[in-house]
Formats: sequence, structure tokens, C-alpha cells
Amino acid sequence: MASKIRTIVIPAAGQGTRLLPATKVTPKELMTVYDRPVLQYAIDEAANAGAERVVIIIHPSKEAIRQYLTHDQKYIRDLEARGKHELGRTLAQLTPPKQMEIVFAYQHEPLGLGHAISCAADFVLPGPIGIILPDDVIFDAFCMGEMARNYTGGHMVAAMEVAPEDTCNYGIFRLAGPSVGRCVAVSGMVEKPALGQAPSRLAAVGRYILDPVVLSSLKSTKRGAGGEIQLTDAIAYDADTVALSAFRFTGTRYDCGTHDGLLEAAFARQSMVKTARQVVA
Ligand code: UTP
Repeated sequence: MASKIRTIVIPAAGQGTRLLPATKVTPKELMTVYDRPVLQYAIDEAANAGAERVVIIIHPSKEAIRQYLTHDQKYIRDLEARGKHELGRTLAQLTPPKQMEIVFAYQHEPLGLGHAISCAADFVLPGPIGIILPDDVIFDAFCMGEMARNYTGGHMVAAMEVAPEDTCNYGIFRLAGPSVGRCVAVSGMVEKPALGQAPSRLAAVGRYILDPVVLSSLKSTKRGAGGEIQLTDAIAYDADTVALSAFRFTGTRYDCGTHDGLLEAAFARQSMVKTARQVVA
């Protein structure tokens, strides 16, 4: 039976160097994808998955993220008072549901994704932990909800097929059997394998449902690639004792940590918004 994912962690404390110079002052999670910030898509996905608590990891220099998520009813009322009813309605729709609590935890130094997740340890509710990397924007289907419905235990990581020449840019799964169906049993992961060395074409994408044991594993995870504490290393370490699966999601993923990805996502979103308007008209 599928387990409920009570906590979803959204790490947003990274430096976003690939989006410099804007990220000198604007967190990459607040970059706009057509009509709303990257982070909003992650919040909507967490709400769709039925999370009770969302833990957002931020760096003290990224307080704008907290401000963005401080939903001020007066702000909406003022818009309405100025006759901007449609804008008021849109902002009200973006407000997370009341039953989903949003809390913030700090990562004071960007020591890597694994370290960022360990900063959530004091805030997670019992049970498996969902993780949404906000800069991996996924359209067409809510990925975390889809994973939660298929999750039956262990560590589950979202996956997509990539071209052989692109495998060197991703964490690539080592398959434990034939790569069929949505849930694929895997025995491990190789981070950014050299060209021609990839064990498969199935690549990890930024959505995870992890057994809480990962928080203990992260405590003993040493710095890995790039001198950072890597979540992939903790997952690979657990693979001996925790069932590991890759989940082929149905949506389309955009790497909004890059200029090209942001642009492609914006065009996709523009098309969705315009189509929705035509349907209503
Ligand atoms: P990335 O590795 O894509 O983010 O992490 P980055 O390090 O900010 O990006 P570049 O490479 O410098 O451009 C994926 C997610 O994990 C968060 C990021 O904010 C992003 O949402 N992250 C990453 C942290 O919270 N802390 C970290 O130490 C690293």
C-alpha cells in the first residue's frame, strides 16, 4: 500500500552560480518561469502530494524566499480595493493550503545537497521524506504525487531516459534487472560517469522519497564530488540495506538552474497558460 508523505523538504540554499549575475541578488528559486517563480511550482507540487509540512532550506542571504512565502491577506485585500480583482484572485490561488505548514531551516554554508537535507532533520515528521529540488521544474503531471502513489518503501528517485552522450551530466542508475515499467529496481547510482562508462541511460532527476534512515547516513557521509556532501553518496551507501528504486515519471522536466532551461520552461508554461485561457473563453 502507498505510504503518505507527511514531510516534503525543498532545499533552496545553494548559490546558483550557473545563473550569475542575477543570482548575486535574486535567489534562483525566485527566477520567473513565465508567470510565477520557480519555487511556486515546487510548492504547488508539494500541496498536490498532500504534504502536511514543507521544510524549506534557505541561506541567510536568501530571506527573499521567506518573504515570498509570507502570504499577506492585506496585500490581496489592497489589490481588490484598487479594483485588481483578477490579480487578487491569482495571488489567493498561489497561497499554500492552510493544512500545509511551511517552516524554514537554515543552511549557513552551501556544503552540498546532502548537507542541506540534513539541516531539515529537526523538522521532519515521522515517516518517509519527500524531496523536491525546485530548480528541476516538471510540467504536465505532478511528479511528487505520482511517486507517492507508487511508493511502497525504501528509497525512490525520479528518473528519465537520457541520450548516451548526455549521461555524463547526470547521476545514472545501475539497473538490478530489466528496465521495464514505471518502478525500476536499481542496485546503485554512478554520479556523472565518464563518456561510454554509464551503466544505463536512466538518469536521476530532482525528486526523491527517502526512508528516514538517510538522515543518519548523511551524518557520516564525507565530502564527495566538488568537495560537497552529496545526497547521492548517502543513497548509494544505503543501497546495501534499503530497497532502491527509480521511478519513471510521466511529466516533462526543465533544468531551471540554467539559462536555457529557464527559457524552455517559460515557453512551455506560456503555451499551457494560453491554451487554458482559450478553453475558458
Ligand atoms: P544545485 O547544485 O543545482 O544548486 O542544487 P546550486 O549549487 O545552487 O547551483 P549552481 O551549480 O551553483 O548553479 C539543487 C538544489 O539544491 C539546493 C539548491 O538551492 C537547489 O535548489 N542546494 C544546493 C542547497 O540548498 N544547498 C547546497 O549546498 C547546494
